[in-house]
Amino acid sequence: MRTNRTFTMIKPDGVANNYIGAILNDITAAGFKIIAMKYTQLSPSLAGKFYAIHAERPFYNDLVSFMSSGPIVAAILEKDNAVADFRTLIGATDPAKADAGTLRNKYAASMSENAVHGSDSNANAEIESAFYFTAFEQF
Ligand code: CMP
Repeated sequence: MRTNRTFTMIKPDGVANNYIGAILNDITAAGFKIIAMKYTQLSPSLAGKFYAIHAERPFYNDLVSFMSSGPIVAAILEKDNAVADFRTLIGATDPAKADAGTLRNKYAASMSENAVHGSDSNANAEIESAFYFTAFEQF
């Protein structure tokens, strides 16, 4: 399995707060190459499918509602050790616990509106990338 790719979304809060440029700049400055990118909005149905793994969690309905509330930027990123290095770059799920300088420390307001998604495993990076992008959209 690939170990040099991960998947990210700039979430509706990151877009609404006008952080697309700053977040992409931080991502590329950290050594990630953007090999696919899309500016789009999830329907509630698609957001529900993307986060199906969390369907039994108490925050699932709010998560689906929030993630379909406005446009997002989806991207596939390439770098050695991409999944782990990107999770280090974005910081803890709860921005209050995210290390200084991480994306969530800099750009996120709360656990539910935390600016950026990053895949949690190589397997999920492949699944999440394929959710948004065909092979012809990956460079
Ligand atoms: P993300 O990494 O995109 O994947 C699942 C998301 O669910 C997570 O970011 C958070 O935004 C959200 N989430 C996780 N735990 C909680 C929680 N306890 N309360 C609200 N939202 C949560």
